[in-house]
Amino acid sequence: MAKMGTSSRVAAAIVAVLGFVLSLAVVCNGGKTSSFVRKVEKTVDMPLDSDVFKVPPGYNAPQQVHITQGDQLGKAVIVSWVTVEEPGSNTVLYWSAYSKKQKSEGKVTTYKFYNYTSGYIHHTTIRNLKFNTKYYYVVGIGHTERQFWFITPPEVGPDVPYTFGLIGDLGQSFDSNKTLTHYELNPQKGQAVLFVGDLSYADTYPNHDNVRWDTWGRFTERSVAYQPWIWTAGNHEIDFAPEIDETKPFKPYTHRYHVPYKASGSTAPFWYSIKRASAYIIVLSSYSAYGKYTPQYKWLEQELPKVNRSETPWLIVLMHSPWYNSYNYHYMEGETMRVMYEPWFVKYKVDVVFAGHVHAYERSERISNVAYNIVNGICIPVKDQSAPVYITIGDGGNLEGLATNMTEPQPAYSAYREASFGHATFDIKNRTHAYYGWHRNQDGYAVTADSMWFFNRYYHPVDDSTSAQ
Ligand SMILES: [Fe+2]
Repeated sequence: MAKMGTSSRVAAAIVAVLGFVLSLAVVCNGGKTSSFVRKVEKTVDMPLDSDVFKVPPGYNAPQQVHITQGDQLGKAVIVSWVTVEEPGSNTVLYWSAYSKKQKSEGKVTTYKFYNYTSGYIHHTTIRNLKFNTKYYYVVGIGHTERQFWFITPPEVGPDVPYTFGLIGDLGQSFDSNKTLTHYELNPQKGQAVLFVGDLSYADTYPNHDNVRWDTWGRFTERSVAYQPWIWTAGNHEIDFAPEIDETKPFKPYTHRYHVPYKASGSTAPFWYSIKRASAYIIVLSSYSAYGKYTPQYKWLEQELPKVNRSETPWLIVLMHSPWYNSYNYHYMEGETMRVMYEPWFVKYKVDVVFAGHVHAYERSERISNVAYNIVNGICIPVKDQSAPVYITIGDGGNLEGLATNMTEPQPAYSAYREASFGHATFDIKNRTHAYYGWHRNQDGYAVTADSMWFFNRYYHPVDDSTSAQ
């Protein structure tokens, strides 16, 4: 080994100290920015003749079958489907191993959008179901019948385990298909999907080609016909196109996707709440008025005190545009809603907020930024154990591609961020613990690329930050 001279020893010492300082700087620099290397490929939509878009065979066969929760408690299901040749029957025939066959009647609707006319869109609510029961159901009665099944949630209660899937900004690209497949094959087995907005991306086509709403309905049927997806409206649901005289916002979305908003006293289908197992889920609309005195504001003001944590310990909020986002895309778009509602989220100890919109993944520490009052300059988010964790899960894989450009340095509040497509699961174990895992599409189905044990804010409000462990 060559002997070091004094000057080279000093140089080595300087390098070592510099290295230490630099590594400290990285540690202080917020959380982790994943160094995962992905192939650079363009995100493209699947062509219209793809097998996932195939029209089911048979005269007037129901297609785009989808279900969602139909009441506040989980004893009702809204079944929706589209027929093309003629309206056909609105009846859903359903039964369980313990009950005889029953029928429920619904309604049919259609809409026009520029030069597009929809098929016959059916919505039928099945009520008074038994909890925790597998039901079979048939639609298309009188023409081509198709049979599906779903399992109702367990009765609402504080220690009821339940696993939610989380998907956002899905679209209908080859990557979207991978995301859905990964969700379906995840051994964690999500029982219902919390969908954080931006469904079909039909509005990215000329004249918002609504044929792409139909293809999206057929693509997702393989999951959403069998388990409820809880819908949040995103900006791609607005479909506002004055240049072609389409000026009624949310027209295709509201005709196609019904939600049980009236059951929670809401006056519009863009904000509402449901209880499911041990979770209370509040859906908010980033694209409806939310300022003081507005319907959404008044509803949320009355809604939060109604949440009984001894019945539903887990308080989850869904919205489309994130409040905390350190990517250079949609930067601060959620800021005005944060200013309005964040003090309530801290006061009522929301466990977690899921949002989409940014086509990447990010998880925050428990932080709040409620002290700022214009003149005091206190505008930096601080750690707050009464505050939710904010998760951006807008990485479903739509044709707009990944958001890869991040603000630097990573803010202290950002615990983990990565520009990869994927989905997540939120696995509630009991009133105190839930296991959260994010899955990137490049990994095996069981691999969690980011995970966290959530401690419930009402029953177990101790520090659960991943950096503190
Ligand atoms: Fe969006």
